[in-house]
Amino acid sequence: MSDNNKNTPAIALERVAGNGLLSRRHLLCLSLAGAGAMVAESVMAADGPALTMPAWSRTPGRGPSEYGNPSSFAGHIKRLAPPPSASLPGGGASRTPLHLLQGIITPNSLHFERHHSGIPDIDPAQHRLAIGGLVRQPLVFSYEDLLAYPMESRILFLECSGNSGGAAGPTAADTSVGGLHGLLSCAEWTGVRLSTLLEEAGVLPEATWVTSTGADGASMGRSIPLDKALRDVFIALYQNGEPIRPEQGYPMRLFVPGWEGNVSVKWLSLIKLASMPANFKDETSRYTELLPDGKALQFTFPMGTKSVITSPSGQMALRRQGVHEITGLAWSGRGSIRRVEVSADGGRTWADAQIDGESRSLALTRFRLPWLWEGAPAVLQSRATDSAGNVQPTRDVFLNTYSPANRYHFNGIQSWAVSAQGEVTNVYA
Ligand code: MTE
Repeated sequence: MSDNNKNTPAIALERVAGNGLLSRRHLLCLSLAGAGAMVAESVMAADGPALTMPAWSRTPGRGPSEYGNPSSFAGHIKRLAPPPSASLPGGGASRTPLHLLQGIITPNSLHFERHHSGIPDIDPAQHRLAIGGLVRQPLVFSYEDLLAYPMESRILFLECSGNSGGAAGPTAADTSVGGLHGLLSCAEWTGVRLSTLLEEAGVLPEATWVTSTGADGASMGRSIPLDKALRDVFIALYQNGEPIRPEQGYPMRLFVPGWEGNVSVKWLSLIKLASMPANFKDETSRYTELLPDGKALQFTFPMGTKSVITSPSGQMALRRQGVHEITGLAWSGRGSIRRVEVSADGGRTWADAQIDGESRSLALTRFRLPWLWEGAPAVLQSRATDSAGNVQPTRDVFLNTYSPANRYHFNGIQSWAVSAQGEVTNVYA
């Protein structure tokens, strides 16, 4: 098919890989290529609807309010939350609707949730954080005490190690990118460095591990090595500028950048310095990766190098042939994202996507690439490479590394099939 399709621009399109992938430079003129051209036509129609003054322009609108809400027309943008569980009161997870969002920041109301025993309703005036174990001077902090310490802000992703576990299952689920990969969010977190508090408590030379426990009904606990705790771990008090939400651990949570979400203990109440890990139930019976020989890996902390295309993605439909933007998210628990490649032919040929803005260490990175869809079936994939040179594996390579029962730390390449009718579905390619 030629490039002078009704919805393609008159300029010569530079194809950079199979099945219609175009050069990044065409991102600049995407609006000329498709939907934008159709809008332009309707604006130019002299008496067209775009020139009629709508009802909301003829009367004053609603006044200011104390706390904002999304437009009622955007009410469908919600977390993907299952019905409450009768057997696990308060437990479960809700997922970020990655397919309905843009940029890299997750709004607080849409940050994914994973609770083992529900969200405690904590009065910050009554809450205490104790630091003890192998320290010279045990300390207790109130919320007010912590607010008085110097703070730092960082944009960081948080991913549950169970994220994308469904993609390791035997059949490809008919789901959206949020439904499959939405135990992933990214926010600007602000708080107090743990090293500042540990310095005050005086860590004894025998201490090599830091154990943390939450004040929720699950008393969730995790252990991390002391060197990580001193390097970049902090106690988060703010999320995207406001106090962290109850779902995220109000009034305070541990934040362990780049590592599996489970170690970022919410509703943080106790930190103990120790000479070995505590072997809490949350690091023995769960959050370990089963290997083919029946043994399990414990303490697999950094999240793998990973990317997913968020549009077009599962359960979406392409309504017209022509140029579309392929966009998605990439991240790594071992640094920043150096490169994202995209394929439209199931991994036979690849083209480099454009990275939006700067690629931040341990944060989500947005990528984009223009794609000319001419109505032929396609399989869209993305492959991330991080600053340490780690390359996202194929699904098969990931599966061969672990037992078929393992659902943790899945970072295999995601495939979305586009049918000749433009329907997009999750497939195993
Ligand atoms: N901390 C406590 N106290 N209780 C919990 O249930 N869930 C953990 C971790 N911290 C949990 C917790 C898990 S499994 C994950 S993935 C992250 O919190 C999820 O953080 P979020 O709900 O803020 O997204």
